[in-house]
Amino acid sequence: MTTTPADATATPSWADLQRHHRDFRGDLRGWFATDPGRAERLTRTAGDLLVDLSKNLVTDETLEILVRLAHDVDLPARTEAMFTGEHINVTEDRAVLHTALRRAPGTQPPLVVDGQDVDADVARELDKLSAFADQVRSGAWTGVTGKPVRTVVNIGIGGSDLGPVMVYEALAPYGEGGPAARFVSNIDPTDVAQKTAGLDPETTLFIVASKTFGTLETLTNARLARAWLWEGLVAAGAIEDTDEARQAAVGKHFVAVSTALDKVAAFGIDPANAFGFWDWVGGRYSVDSAIGTSLAIAFGPDVFRELLAGFRTMDEHFRSTPLERNVPALMGLLNVWYVNFLDAHTHAVLPYAQQLHRFPAYLQQLTMESNGKSVRADGSPVTSQTGEVFWGEPGTNGQHAFYQLIHQGTRTIPADFIAFATPAYPLTDADGDGGAVRPGADVHELFLANFFAQTKALAFGKTADEVRAEGTAEHLVSARTFSGNRPTTSIMAPALTPSVLGQLVALYEHVTFVQGVVWGIDSFDQWGVELGKKLALEIAPAVSGDDEALAAQDSSTKALVEYYRAHR
Ligand code: F6P
Repeated sequence: MTTTPADATATPSWADLQRHHRDFRGDLRGWFATDPGRAERLTRTAGDLLVDLSKNLVTDETLEILVRLAHDVDLPARTEAMFTGEHINVTEDRAVLHTALRRAPGTQPPLVVDGQDVDADVARELDKLSAFADQVRSGAWTGVTGKPVRTVVNIGIGGSDLGPVMVYEALAPYGEGGPAARFVSNIDPTDVAQKTAGLDPETTLFIVASKTFGTLETLTNARLARAWLWEGLVAAGAIEDTDEARQAAVGKHFVAVSTALDKVAAFGIDPANAFGFWDWVGGRYSVDSAIGTSLAIAFGPDVFRELLAGFRTMDEHFRSTPLERNVPALMGLLNVWYVNFLDAHTHAVLPYAQQLHRFPAYLQQLTMESNGKSVRADGSPVTSQTGEVFWGEPGTNGQHAFYQLIHQGTRTIPADFIAFATPAYPLTDADGDGGAVRPGADVHELFLANFFAQTKALAFGKTADEVRAEGTAEHLVSARTFSGNRPTTSIMAPALTPSVLGQLVALYEHVTFVQGVVWGIDSFDQWGVELGKKLALEIAPAVSGDDEALAAQDSSTKALVEYYRAHR
């Protein structure tokens, strides 16, 4: 595989997009008024997802050129290269095979990459973590005093935290009756203190989740948790205050997930109680690996496998669907259009599902750690803008916070709206409010009415004449006018099941990949996080009182550390 990616900006289709953009005038009102087939023509399906692209600022011609761009940068070949294990993570010389974590059992031919029988290894680890999850759930696995596990605490950060916590929240209704899960990530000691508060050490199992098992935050939190466990067990008289008893407690209350099993052993966790994965799974692409062990325990291995099947559904769609109908490809190409031609700087993700309240945070790592790059895969500078800022909150909360800016601000903010036909908790408002809300109203329907209304308002706005026709005083007309033409994609599914969640996550994984291919960057490394980590270690002695280390700092950092030292 070449390490010199195609330069999208030098392709004929890019020149066509530039020409197209010069004459382009977004007109969603006009387009919908004159083209009754627009919604149907621009709606796609992928697995269980219905994806309405029609309220985006594109014409058929825009889409046609974007699809040509995808061909010009060899997207289909790059996709195949990813699925077949070529080393497309060039700066780390690694395959990128998160898709192998969810291949159908028994797929022929088996996937063998760099001499590794990937399918066999994935199946073995999945079986191992499933068996462990069953043991914990059934009570066969007990703590050191023989009590079953009531709470699992996942200790990890970044991809070793955001995926598990997002899925845990999203699938909460599937967890009833199983052990509860909590998630510790921040090295701020508040996190470990709050997440262990109220727990009984005798019934708590810690999962130390770290791909590298070298992450400062995670190992520090793991040591704090270990100390909490020991202190609690000794104080309760549950174990003797001896090294042997402490070590035995770790054996029953700590397991690990990592690619570095030697470091797991050095921490004192029996490698027999460790679940592995491989360097070809990026941290932010790892929720479907053993990093999801907390999920398999909380929901059961069957639900976890259903989640994986959902990922697989989207993988198959992405790999085999022609680009014109390929949802991740089209969404990725639309993002390129917005970033590189319509000057969008950010992208909102707005789930109309409270259970997805951590989904935007999860997507921030997925998209921004992947595509926040200024050099191409061959080390040359990028030739266009790259990664946009992803952000969001669940509707309707966002409506009462930041939607003002999306509706009437000066910037173009493409937004993805996500909703489900069936609610997890069907509730009716028996009394109504005597006005807008009728007695017996289905609250989910009210919720969805907001979902439908928002994309409509953003697309079509409200003209000054319409505002005037309502009798608005002339001096208020401009403030109450909505320009419309604010682009949105609506994604709907029947319900937020484990499979649908897997489909959604894989959708965004592939959207991210598509954008990275167009920009010619390595979407699978993350060198940008290294410098801060290194400097934190260098500054730590100054913070603790080392004057020589303090003197070595720049004047701003020095003054800030001095402030801390004076006020601690
Ligand atoms: O610092 C960034 C990062 O490397 C992420 O890519 C990763 O998800 C996170 O740290 C945690 O890494 P690990 O799983 O190795 O502890």
